[in-house]
Amino acid sequence: MSLPAPRPRETVGASRLAPNPYGYYDQSAREYVITRPDTPSPWINYLGQGRYGGIISNTAGGFSFDRDPRDRRVSRYRYNSLPPDQPGRYVYLRRKDTGEYWGATWQPVRARLDSYECRHGAGYTKITSERQGTWAELLYFVPPTAADDPCPAELWVLRLANRAGSTQEIQVFSYVELSFTDASSDLHNLDWSQHVVSSHYDEGLQAIVTGTKFSPTKQFFAADRLPLGYDSDREVFVGPYRGLEDPVVVVEGSAKQSEAPRGNNIGSLCHEICLQPGEEVRIVYMLGITDEPASIGAVTRRYRDPAEVAHGFEVLGEDWAEYFAAFSAETPDADTTAMVKFWSPLQCRSTLHWSRFVSGYETGLGRGIGTRDTAQDTLGIVHAAPDEVASRLARLWGVQFEDGHTWHQFLPLSGKGGPGLAAEPPSWPQSLSDDHLRLIIATCAYLKETGDYDYLARRVPYAQLDTVDPRSDGTDGGKARRERDDTIWGHMMAALGFTLANRGPHGLPRSGFSDWDDTLNVDHGSGLAESVWCAMQLCRAVLDLAELSDRLGRIEDAERFRDVQRETAQAVNSCAWDGSWYARCFDDEGKLIGVSSELHHRINLIPQSWCVIGEVAPRERAELAMAAAHEHLGTPYGPSLMWPPYDGGDPRVNGTSTFPPGAKENGGIFCHAAAWSVVAAAQMGDGDRAYEYYRRLLPLSRSDVERSAVEPYVYCQNICGPAHPSYGLGRNAWLTGAASWMYVAVTQWILGIRPTHEGLRIAPAIPSAWPGYSATRMFRGTRYDITVSRQGPGSRVSLTVDNLPVSGDVVALPLPGTAQVSVQVAIGD
Ligand code: GLC
Repeated sequence: MSLPAPRPRETVGASRLAPNPYGYYDQSAREYVITRPDTPSPWINYLGQGRYGGIISNTAGGFSFDRDPRDRRVSRYRYNSLPPDQPGRYVYLRRKDTGEYWGATWQPVRARLDSYECRHGAGYTKITSERQGTWAELLYFVPPTAADDPCPAELWVLRLANRAGSTQEIQVFSYVELSFTDASSDLHNLDWSQHVVSSHYDEGLQAIVTGTKFSPTKQFFAADRLPLGYDSDREVFVGPYRGLEDPVVVVEGSAKQSEAPRGNNIGSLCHEICLQPGEEVRIVYMLGITDEPASIGAVTRRYRDPAEVAHGFEVLGEDWAEYFAAFSAETPDADTTAMVKFWSPLQCRSTLHWSRFVSGYETGLGRGIGTRDTAQDTLGIVHAAPDEVASRLARLWGVQFEDGHTWHQFLPLSGKGGPGLAAEPPSWPQSLSDDHLRLIIATCAYLKETGDYDYLARRVPYAQLDTVDPRSDGTDGGKARRERDDTIWGHMMAALGFTLANRGPHGLPRSGFSDWDDTLNVDHGSGLAESVWCAMQLCRAVLDLAELSDRLGRIEDAERFRDVQRETAQAVNSCAWDGSWYARCFDDEGKLIGVSSELHHRINLIPQSWCVIGEVAPRERAELAMAAAHEHLGTPYGPSLMWPPYDGGDPRVNGTSTFPPGAKENGGIFCHAAAWSVVAAAQMGDGDRAYEYYRRLLPLSRSDVERSAVEPYVYCQNICGPAHPSYGLGRNAWLTGAASWMYVAVTQWILGIRPTHEGLRIAPAIPSAWPGYSATRMFRGTRYDITVSRQGPGSRVSLTVDNLPVSGDVVALPLPGTAQVSVQVAIGD
């Protein structure tokens, strides 16, 4: 779907974005600028758009892959190694006269630089440095190509300039460490992988080509100018008992023309450049992978043309600009504005592409794409990339079994699925209670956004035996299933059916291996363990289905779904209310967890927000529950997930209690869950509270970056909680459900602009101090220019649409083909 570009909007008295000791957000360039290389942890960015790509840090550490970091890896990265954040996409520079050498991106040499700057932008990273008048800039990006491009590649564009007063002779050595394409074998089966891989320098292509004899797959590394020398054997390049900080080839200043007959393969090309004062040259490096080696020549020829390189970068920028244009807002808070306009959508797209599979923490070797994770990720991008969401959701419905539950995760290239951690205790339930319900909620969100009701008739096969991962023995998922496909509506009904058929004695969904909290493993098979939170999630799912059924004219279905919601809410209210808040779950003996009578885990955050989101709690209880969460779980970094944490292993809950107090799900601040508190507070009409919660977690407003350590431009998964010695330390940046949910929380609930089946609802819950905001949003092909102004206290909304007053808070769908609608919103009672 192609979206018209919006008009630029005016800023509503924006506050300033504050720098921190390591960098700042450059709003006009839309780049996070890192001003020193030794950040508290590698601050990374993503290259590519969900196909060929990888991660890159502020010193060019990181790696690349094509579609699947485990099964189609291009280059290596050593997680948890010393020194950290190596290897990467490196360029060594060496003065021929003095023999001094350094890393153009600081690593891997870490020699002193006179200046350094890294700029992370949308799909690219640019690192500049200067040492004794030698100025270097490296721009890394993946030019967008067709989805069926047989030979995707990334480019590193090096600009080298002499800013000194005399001539400089510079030797330039590039370095990338190539991986065996099966990254798991590359790590675990050295006896085989290191024997089957070899490299050679192809004179015709002027490229290092790496691969095996038994497969057509080749990786290649080339430059746009003829190299003086090359190396493809890591051990020859580095030399015995040396490291990447002093490789012998660079120290001595001469490439050895090594071809690796086996072992560790690298791409290193050597160039010598003589620069007059003020002169600048450019070298373009290309790194890629293909199953059709004959296509490498076309790629290297293409990017030897500077116009093609420039065009590739331009197309990348246009693609992102179109994506960002789908929603834009100007608010009185500059940090919020910058997150809404740029960093949140950027992060949402990366989470959708790479789920919880590949990041600075997730090694790209294990879990693959998460079903529940990806379903939630679609919520943050559906307004901007609905077609992508439609195909992702269909893919996810394809990992559902006929009984309605789904694989918890699957590998993107092979499609092999698995139940995740549940496989470890095979006698416990192998399904999770929330995966399939997430898919209902995400599919309803897609339909509200697009009105594409024909999607419901699309047929998707159920998961089959051949998608079963042989490593996941002990699962019941794929066994003895008939081959069958179904409509997406049918898949949704199967999902609901699974939950309804798997309820415990109180009528709540059985916990399964876990619900949203992977580590809360209370269901050991007795049939007594039930998830209170999942009951609330079920309520949301059936309410969404009821709204959809209203729209489709399925009156009986709508009633049936509302009945399920009423019954479930009633069940929750009669068995899980603890006096001031809702319990979290029943354990395997039918005893409540998350209640005041417990020693540990007396209160848990998520039932207190989902009692609102699932419309389960009467107003008075909702207020008490939210107030209890605020009182018992609040911290300056956001609310802890639960309190008090377990202090040592507790077989009742298993996983949670494996963490020390304050870590992750055991009393840490789980940013994903914190986002639901923002939604719930806004849903209750409390804009001040919603904004307060939102601000506490806002990455761009983190002032103590040394303590939090993670990138201050994207959400991280968790922050160590008050009971932890590293209280305030953030972990697992980038790939987290916090990305999409925080974006939903701020755009749909605080700013209050949310799609419905009938039109665009505008029901802001902004802080009382805000005079208003303005926004531009694409919705079903029409651009909505929205101005919200506060007329007084209170949250009553009066709408004026194209200068005509309208009752209610929904802007009805305009006539088809309407390009633009202006909406004025006055708030105040
Ligand atoms: C991690 C998982 C996510 C899970 C959450 C809570 O973020 O990726 O699937 O819901 O932890 O356990």
